[in-house]
Amino acid sequence: MYKNPIWHHPSLPENPQETMALKPIFSIIFFLVISICCISVSAECPLNFKILSNFSETISTAKTRNISEQCQAARQGLHLVLSEYLLTDSRFLPPTNSSSDCWEAFETQINASGSSFDIRSSCGYDTLSISEGCLNITTRKEFEERVPLGSRQSMASACNQTLTGSACTECSATLSTSPTIYLKGNSTSNLTDCTSYPIIYAAALLNKFGPTDENTAECLFFIALGLNQDKKNLAWVYGTVAAGVLLGAMVSGLLGFFYWKRRRAIKKRALVEDIRIHFAEPSSMHPNSTLVRFSIEDIKVATKNFHRDNIIGVGGFGNVYKGVLSDGSVVAVKRFKNCSPAGDASFVHEVQVISSIRHRNLVALKGFCMAPVSIEGHQRIIVCEYMPNGSLHDHLFGRWSHNRLDWGARCKIAVGMARGLAYLHRDVQPAIIHRDIKASNILLDENFDARVADFGLAKFTPEGVTHVSTRVAGTHGYVAPEYALYGQLTEKSDVYSFGVVLLELLSGRKALLSNAQSQSLHITDWAWSLVRKGSSLEVIEQDMEDPGTPEAMERYVMIALLCAHPQLHCRPTIDQALKIMESDLPLPHIPDRPLPLIADLEDIERSASTSGSGQYSSASGYQSYSTEKSFNALDSQNGR
Ligand SMILES: *[C@@H]1O[C@H](CO)[C@@H](O)[C@H](O)[C@H]1NC(C)=O
Ligand SMILES: *[C@@H]1O[C@H](CO)[C@@H](O)[C@H](O)[C@H]1NC(C)=O
Ligand SMILES: *[C@@H]1O[C@H](CO)[C@@H](O)[C@H](O)[C@H]1NC(C)=O
Ligand SMILES: *[C@@H]1O[C@H](CO)[C@@H](O)[C@H](O)[C@H]1NC(C)=O
Repeated sequence: MYKNPIWHHPSLPENPQETMALKPIFSIIFFLVISICCISVSAECPLNFKILSNFSETISTAKTRNISEQCQAARQGLHLVLSEYLLTDSRFLPPTNSSSDCWEAFETQINASGSSFDIRSSCGYDTLSISEGCLNITTRKEFEERVPLGSRQSMASACNQTLTGSACTECSATLSTSPTIYLKGNSTSNLTDCTSYPIIYAAALLNKFGPTDENTAECLFFIALGLNQDKKNLAWVYGTVAAGVLLGAMVSGLLGFFYWKRRRAIKKRALVEDIRIHFAEPSSMHPNSTLVRFSIEDIKVATKNFHRDNIIGVGGFGNVYKGVLSDGSVVAVKRFKNCSPAGDASFVHEVQVISSIRHRNLVALKGFCMAPVSIEGHQRIIVCEYMPNGSLHDHLFGRWSHNRLDWGARCKIAVGMARGLAYLHRDVQPAIIHRDIKASNILLDENFDARVADFGLAKFTPEGVTHVSTRVAGTHGYVAPEYALYGQLTEKSDVYSFGVVLLELLSGRKALLSNAQSQSLHITDWAWSLVRKGSSLEVIEQDMEDPGTPEAMERYVMIALLCAHPQLHCRPTIDQALKIMESDLPLPHIPDRPLPLIADLEDIERSASTSGSGQYSSASGYQSYSTEKSFNALDSQNGR
């Protein structure tokens, strides 16, 4: 048996002298035997390395490269073959028992030009590594179980196109950020590791042209292909060889063989050079264009060296500056206080995750900057989209508060912020809890659409990343009671803060009010006292232009109070709240609230004499519904 796959190719005998010595009749038999053997041998390794032979001399001026570039090139070539295998067999890796055969087939293919590049010993890969990958994932199904549909869809939308130019950059950037959070863990192999999986997957199953397409291969595997030409040559060569054998003309057969072999040699040399040249700059392997790393000089120029006139926001974590980048685009530059280099790695990771989250109601991250600066200390900066209309805080209480928002604008902002938050809670895996929803974190874009800012950043407060679990991030007045008191953090903590912001938006009053006796009064307690009296419309800011209908305005007050309910289980999810806002579904009943923690004796006595019904009375006569039942109805409407 000719086990060695070198025989796979009829025209590639290892020792041509032997063939030459044979008589024509034997050579026909020999040829047939080899062909039959080849069919059975090729079943051993399921990978089709022959697709690599489609390379041709696209870069004839290539220079000799070093060994590590050769190893990289071989690795990329393998990934291309694995991607084709995933497409045809729905598997990422060949079975373990075929790994030895696969290496031989691979090395035969790479060395077909007569070179002798032993990938395993030169690059330090052991035999089994060709069958090993990331986190035991071997099949398409296993990958899809781990990487959720949402992430795969965003990969598809970036990569299902002709991958040239900026489309290529967009696809590479998406693949190197979005799916990687689901593939965290140790790769079992350094040949095909967790970062390679999304690329292999996208080339095979998301891009409509497939891995062997010229643009796809060049973009994702850094391999330039020259299709067709080579195939024609092969057919011509086969034809020559067959004719030679049939005529029994040994001489012409041999001539054909040597001619073919020379052509192959030239081609293969070109191929190897070709793969190599793409590895001249390993750092550009995954150009991450959507997330830019800025130098501290860029940032200083953009913000006029952090000039105080450029400050557009002051927060617990540091200042926010308006900046103009060299390309003329206006950005918001957020500079974190008191950083040390220790948290840099997790900062970069977090920034990558955040930059992959894009939604029309979220502020997009454009880039970051990290730099040791001797006098000012270690710098950690993020660069975001600039929002020309400032924050909701500016419009309600700040520089633009004289220009009151009309009812339509308020509704649009309310729905926008709920959508942004719903995206973070529902569509990002794992869900992101914002922790610091407040009026100054709701920004307004040029169309007055709400954009939630600062998500995913609660960890990077000046205290650093080490105290995350013990420290309550958030702002007085907005933090949910269970989070403030018990440190219990869930998506519903954000729903509480959302309810508070919604009340601010409706009433034009701040979360923490001061009454005549300069005691603190929380906006939810104030609003609830009005609702209980049956005057829910008094919650709404007076003298608003174009007010809504009383029913609509009352509805929003109720939604806000429901969201900002002190008891966790009474609050809807943000998805449910959004649905109530966007529909005319009946409002759930709002369970009575406990008295404020700082209520005085008088209040407590008054409450004791009036409570009992636990119902609010409504000006427009809303029906009461049990919270539970209504939430269930809401969810089933959506098929969940
Ligand atoms: C190799 O392993 C696969 C599954 O891992 C099995 O289906 C196949 O029969 C094995 N082949 C041989 C020759 O042992
Ligand atoms: C792969 O890992 C092995 C050991 O785990 C190491 O010896 C080898 O150098 C690594 N190869 C590459 C190309 O990093
Ligand atoms: C991979 O599978 C092996 C056994 O099948 C198991 O012991 C190991 O924990 C798995 N590794 C991962 C990362 O799931
Ligand atoms: C890619 O786009 C084509 C049409 O352009 C479509 O038929 C195909 O289903 C898409 N593939 C994926 C994975 O979205």
